[in-house]
Amino acid sequence: METRKGQGKEGVLPIAVFASGTGSNFRQLLAHSDQGLLERGRIVCLVSDQPGSGAVALAAERGLPCLALTHKAAGGRQAFEQAACAFLQVQNIAWVVLAGYMRLVGPTLLAAFSRRMINVHPSLLPQFPGLDAPLQALTAGVVQTGVTVHYVDAGLDTGEIIAQTPVAVYPDDTLSTLTARIHSAEHTLLPQVVRSLCT
Ligand code: GRF
Repeated sequence: METRKGQGKEGVLPIAVFASGTGSNFRQLLAHSDQGLLERGRIVCLVSDQPGSGAVALAAERGLPCLALTHKAAGGRQAFEQAACAFLQVQNIAWVVLAGYMRLVGPTLLAAFSRRMINVHPSLLPQFPGLDAPLQALTAGVVQTGVTVHYVDAGLDTGEIIAQTPVAVYPDDTLSTLTARIHSAEHTLLPQVVRSLCT
């Protein structure tokens, strides 16, 4: 059966997740995908710049196609992204979801997935972009932070915002309690946004 670019058999929209770390968002997306809760979306593969990460271990456990190599091993960011694009093309990917992918995306991937690539960030952007957003929120002494899902552009967490969820910061919060609350909000918001994009 012939399929269009980014559209799998029977209208399924194949989704690739990019992750560098533990992969708790990846795990949630997989669970939603398995239960058919992403509408036409299906998580079909993982790309990671951290071969030793929890996300890569999870993909292996699930027998999911996975491209895992460091930027250094690939020969730099451009070479990494070229390898990723070739991998994604084979899977006929419709959407790319960055779920804890700790790299700036370069022109190669941006050109291939313009307006088809989203990211989850642990703050209410434009507040606290970049690394350690929960720590930035604690240090700033705010009473509320949150989670943002946004389109990816060339900047650091600057793409158009799709959805946000506020998360309270309590006076007795530690980095660990706040991070856990933010993660929990991410685990709800990210699958919701993916589902709406795949409707
Ligand atoms: C998440 O908080 C995400 O927003 C940030 O990195 C973290 C990844 O967590 N960019 P996990 O690997 O999904 O557990």
